[in-house]
Amino acid sequence: MKRPLSRRAFMRHATAGSAAFGWLGSTSSAAAAQSFSAAPALLGGAPVHTAGWPKWPEWREAWEPAVVEILRSGKWYRGEGGHVAEFEAAYAKLLGAKRCVATASGTTALQVSLHVLGVDAGDEVIVSPYTFVATYNAILMSKALPVFADTDPTTLTMDPASIESRITERTRAILPVHIYGMPCEMDEVNAIAKKRGLPVIEDACQAWLAEYKGRKCGTLGDLACFSFQNSKHLPSGEGGAVTGNSDELLDRCQSFHDVGRPVGNFKGQRQYFTRGSNYRMQQFQASILLQQFDKLVQDTERRRRNADYLSAGLRDIPGVQPARLPENSRAVWHLYPLRYDAAQFSGLSRDRFVRALRAEGVPCSAGYHEQYFDGLLDEAIESRGFKRLWSAERLKSYRDSLQELRGNRQVCASTVGITQNLLLAERADMDHITDAIRKIQKHGDALAKAAV
Ligand SMILES: Cc1ncc(COP(=O)(O)O)c(C=O)c1O
Repeated sequence: MKRPLSRRAFMRHATAGSAAFGWLGSTSSAAAAQSFSAAPALLGGAPVHTAGWPKWPEWREAWEPAVVEILRSGKWYRGEGGHVAEFEAAYAKLLGAKRCVATASGTTALQVSLHVLGVDAGDEVIVSPYTFVATYNAILMSKALPVFADTDPTTLTMDPASIESRITERTRAILPVHIYGMPCEMDEVNAIAKKRGLPVIEDACQAWLAEYKGRKCGTLGDLACFSFQNSKHLPSGEGGAVTGNSDELLDRCQSFHDVGRPVGNFKGQRQYFTRGSNYRMQQFQASILLQQFDKLVQDTERRRRNADYLSAGLRDIPGVQPARLPENSRAVWHLYPLRYDAAQFSGLSRDRFVRALRAEGVPCSAGYHEQYFDGLLDEAIESRGFKRLWSAERLKSYRDSLQELRGNRQVCASTVGITQNLLLAERADMDHITDAIRKIQKHGDALAKAAV
C-alpha cells in the first residue's frame, strides 16, 4: 500500500497514551506516522509494536484460597467432593444446556461423545478437515475413519453442501468444528443429519460462549465437546466437558467417563452395566475453572469489540480479508483469522508475511496445514485393525479422496491467525496490527525479494 498513515489512525495512535499497556512509551506517535516508510522489521527496521501483549493465561491472587483449600482437604478426586459437580451445573447454565459432564480434556470429551453415540470399529464419521489434529485422533481411537467434508474458504468451517456426498452405509455421525470460535452453519448441518438419521457432535473446543442464531455453541447438536487446555479462553491446564440436552446421553457420558459406574436411570442395574474408562476431571481443575466464569464473559466481550474494530480497519487493505460468519452468529475468536492474498502483497508468500508480521511485533501463525498428509492416516489405515475392518479398495479410495477435498488446501495455504490474547489489548493496539500489515504491503516487493 502506498497510503501513508491516515489522519484517523494517526489520531488513534496519538490518543492512546493512556492505554493500560503503555505502548506509547516505546513507539511515539511521530514514529508511528513514519512507520510505513521505515524499513520493515524483518529487514532491520524498527518494529511497529514494541510494547508486548497481554499474557495468557492470567491468574488472580484472589482465586488462590479456594485452590489451597482443596489442596489441604486432601479431597482431590471428583468422587470425594462437590467442585466438579458444581462446575458441571454452572457450565451447563452458562451455555443454556441441560447437562454437562466434565472430562480430563477436550480429546477425551470427544472420545466419550463418539462412544456413547455408538461410533464403533469400522464406522465412518464425517468431520471438518480444518481443525486441530485431536479431532481426527478421537475418531481414529474409536477405530473409525474420519471422512472429511469440504471446507468453505470464506468461513473456514465445514461446507454443509458437501456432507451428503460423503455419507456411506457406514457413516455413524457428523462432527462439525466451530474452528477459532466461529460457529458452523448448524441449521444446514442439522437438517442433513436429521434427514439421514445421524447424530451431530459439535467440536466446540474453541467456542466457549460462541453463538449461532441466539443459542450458544454446545447446545446445537446431540452432544458437544469443549477444551480447557492452557491456551483456551477458559483454561485449567488440561480439562474438557461434554454438554447436551438429553439425560439418557449425558448419563451414558457420565458412566463411560467414570469406568462404567451407573448414574441416573442406570442406577440399580448391575454395578458395571457398561464399558468405561477414566476420563475424570480433578477438583483443582474445577475450582480453577469456576472462578474464571466472570472473566470469560468480560474477556469475550472485549475480544469481540476489538475484533469488530480490527475487521473495520482491515476493510481498506486489499489482500487481507476477515472470515465470514454465518448470519446471526457471534464468534469468540480463539484465533482471529485473515485470508491472505499474496498477489496483493507483491507476491510475498503467506509464510514470509507471517514472519514479517511477527517481526513487526504482532504474534501470528499460519493456522493448520493439511495434516491428513502427515502420516497419521497412513499409519492408521496400514494398521492390522483398520485392514481387518475395511476392504483394501475402500482404504485406497479413502486415501485418494484426500487429494480431492475442496477448499481446505486453499484455506491451509492462505490463512493467517492472530492469537486471542492480542484481542485483549487496548483498541489502539489494534491499529498497530493494521499499521504493521500496511507497512508490510508497502514493502512487499523488498520483503519478497530479500533472502532473509
Ligand atoms: C478444535 C479442537 N478439538 C479438540 C481439541 C482437543 O482438546 P484438548 O487439547 O483439551 O484435548 C482441541 C484443543 O486444542 C481443539 O482446538
